[in-house]
Amino acid sequence: MPLPRVIATRKLPAPVEERLRTNFTVALNEDDTPFTPGRLAEALRQADGVLCAVTDRMSADLLGTEGLQTRVLANFGVGVNNIDLAAAEKAGIAVGNTPDVLTDATADLAIALMLAATRRMYETEKMLREGRWQGFSLTAQLGMGLSGKTIGIVGMGRIGQATARRAALGFGMKVIYYNRSPLRVTLDFPAERRETIEEVMAEADVVSLHIPGGGENRGRISAAMIAAMKPTAYLVNTARGDVVEEPALIAALAEGRIAGAGLDVFAEEPKVPAELIALDNVTLLPHIGSATLETRTAMGMLAVDNLEAFFAGKPMPARVV
Ligand code: DGY
Repeated sequence: MPLPRVIATRKLPAPVEERLRTNFTVALNEDDTPFTPGRLAEALRQADGVLCAVTDRMSADLLGTEGLQTRVLANFGVGVNNIDLAAAEKAGIAVGNTPDVLTDATADLAIALMLAATRRMYETEKMLREGRWQGFSLTAQLGMGLSGKTIGIVGMGRIGQATARRAALGFGMKVIYYNRSPLRVTLDFPAERRETIEEVMAEADVVSLHIPGGGENRGRISAAMIAAMKPTAYLVNTARGDVVEEPALIAALAEGRIAGAGLDVFAEEPKVPAELIALDNVTLLPHIGSATLETRTAMGMLAVDNLEAFFAGKPMPARVV
């Protein structure tokens, strides 16, 4: 029997590419140029499975085209807001993702951004590199301590919980959270649920976002919610840029209505608004939440597990549609 034909839209960690070469007839993306919509359409017409990523917008138009060969999309990422899931379902295309294996790496980065923001790392490092540091001072460059402060988690799923655990047990922070439904797990650290996102935003010293992007969550963190934050509070986003009303966040940061932010994700990646880049009170990272060698390899392996299971007629280990 011929091996299923798989197209990978991005360059993958070497062991993942090796496994794809062994088990599939595979077209790899050696130079890592992101696929255009035209190239994605071609891939969907040619391949039995497409191993795709957050940079590939699998729209209803693309997935609704007649005559597609693709039966499975293995998304390299836990977030699937790049894929129109309803359209995939309608077209009879299965969708897999890569949960769990990136939880710790992403929670680590949320904590890193919390520290960067509250200890003013970007602003002070920039001052030093630009030769503006006048020497040690007892009263300059003061940030906010974390012990005894409140972290507000918006979205208490796996990554939200891992971030909260680090904040509670590692930094002695009080945890409050919003989650759409009551948690079905017992937490191994103290945490208090709040009924609304507004309550969390108004009470927290640091708000960390962990809700999925797209759909009803687009712009969910509204101008009014940002306005409810304390002027001394910080916002951390390692989820998706589109969950925040970005212009409202920029205005709040520029006008000092909140103290600062740490952002790993943006509404229209890879575009980052010039107004954000100009601000000193925000640390900006290029969507590297899951970017460790170990995690990206594990994510790739899980994406391949999904493909192998699908083509073997077995349940995919992580299936969304
Ligand atoms: C994820 O897994 O969702 C990461 O943000 C990369 O897409």
